[in-house]
Amino acid sequence: MPSQRSETSYRRLFEGHPQPMWVFDPETLRFLAVNEAAVATYGYSEDEFLAMTIADIRPPDDRVALEKAVSDVSRRLAYAGVWRHLKKDGTPIEVKVTSNAIDFEGLGARLVLIEDVTAQSRLEEQLRQAQRMDAIGNFAGAIAHDFNNILLVIRGHSAALLDELAPGRLRSNVEQIDRAAERASEFTHRLLAFSRQQVLAPELVDVNAVVGEMVQMLERILGEDIEVILQLEPSAVPILIDRSQLAQAFLNLVVNARDAMPSGGALTIRTANIELDDAYTTTHEGAVPGPHVLLQVTDSGVGMDASTRERVFEPFFTTKDEGTGFGLATVFGVVKQSSGSISLYSEPQLGTSFKLYFPSASDTPAPRVTHAANATLEGSETILVVEDTEVVRALVKEVLESYGYTVLTAAGGPEALTLATAHRGSIDVLMTDVVMPRMTGRVLAEKILAVDPRVRVLFTSGFPVDTVFRNEVDEGRYGFIEKPYLPAQLARKLRELLD
Ligand SMILES: Nc1ncnc2c1ncn2[C@@H]1O[C@H](COP(=O)(O)OP(=O)(O)OP(=O)(O)O)[C@@H](O)[C@H]1O
Ligand SMILES: [Mg+2]
Repeated sequence: MPSQRSETSYRRLFEGHPQPMWVFDPETLRFLAVNEAAVATYGYSEDEFLAMTIADIRPPDDRVALEKAVSDVSRRLAYAGVWRHLKKDGTPIEVKVTSNAIDFEGLGARLVLIEDVTAQSRLEEQLRQAQRMDAIGNFAGAIAHDFNNILLVIRGHSAALLDELAPGRLRSNVEQIDRAAERASEFTHRLLAFSRQQVLAPELVDVNAVVGEMVQMLERILGEDIEVILQLEPSAVPILIDRSQLAQAFLNLVVNARDAMPSGGALTIRTANIELDDAYTTTHEGAVPGPHVLLQVTDSGVGMDASTRERVFEPFFTTKDEGTGFGLATVFGVVKQSSGSISLYSEPQLGTSFKLYFPSASDTPAPRVTHAANATLEGSETILVVEDTEVVRALVKEVLESYGYTVLTAAGGPEALTLATAHRGSIDVLMTDVVMPRMTGRVLAEKILAVDPRVRVLFTSGFPVDTVFRNEVDEGRYGFIEKPYLPAQLARKLRELLD
């Protein structure tokens, strides 16, 4: 029989335990005792708790399962699983429940220990989501890469035909082909943007300015029944991003908001300077701490249920008859590519809010912007073209010859090296694909430069260059052109590199 004093100390262990605990009656489900942490976590006072049953802190849907779990009295010490509980203010939390059968004031009762795992399970879910998006991204990137080579050939040949054909039926056929191929190449761009493999032109951008420009167009897009509310932070810090991509992402969010408010509503656009702290970044996969600029788009529309919320960023996921399901996939790609993070709040019938966080770029110098010279695009230099896809190789040769260049071609690194050694005159430019099976473009370039450091190098790829490589391109040591490119773009790039 414990003494009066030790009973008081044991009581304190219960009351002062840092995690929520309570005792309940398994017959009536009534709370018999609760500790301070339970009061603090759930928001009910002790008296309120004692007038309630444990079913009252469950969402209605979970009550049947609860009764079943409680009636299973066979186990004494039991891990009762992860449950959803409701706080007094209605906020749901996820909790891990452990219970033990005890004797409480002569009654067979249960002692319960609660661990709040809300943040942890949200993070796990985000991680799963991120992994799934990564897998889809790799897949999309690979398809877009192969597709780019094909489009390059189609557009290159149709451009050549258009140069020759006089107006008439044949010419308009070729124009249709070219237009279709152009649309297809927009499609691969979207896929690449989503898979974060697009080569970008980042610059310092004032988010408010982009929003401001777009807002003028919004009225036409939105119609009269949607009220636009602007809450722009006047001193928003610039961010480093591809301007047209930011505009595209914003537009996609606005169009979705409009679609969600068929009979009108409010669209709120907010910008703010926000410091993301550890509390945010540890609960949001992919977020990094530090100063950010927030772009938030909120609508009062139909909202989304949990199963929709989970999949909205996937390409091709749509609930609309005419939708492509690319809108949010693009937004996701743009944000990720700018090292930003994204969060989504939405409830059915209440509306939706997307928050895009972009790292502030106040200290980052604006990247160099090169302007194409207006000079003629012709040239007489010698270009060594290395490309493993035969049709692309033949096309590039034809294009470059039409601009006056002397062209040597090779299907891969080893052949290119043999050719370069055997060639009597000088080679002015090595134009090589980056990704090739036997020798990468980079290794080839290093070998050729070791023999003749005056050779200019132009890399080409449907993939972007990695960061290290990007620096070299930025410093002007190498040129880079993204596939698919048009003949004139290639010619311009070569003049930039040579002049
Ligand atoms: N603001 C929103 N409110 C409610 N649901 C939304 C909202 N934004 C997106 N969704 C849901 O997410 C889905 C995917 O959006 P996404 O923009 O990727 O494609 P889409 O709008 O269906 O097609 P597209 O953008 O090509 O027109 C939508 O079909 C819709 O179900
Ligand atoms: Mg959309």
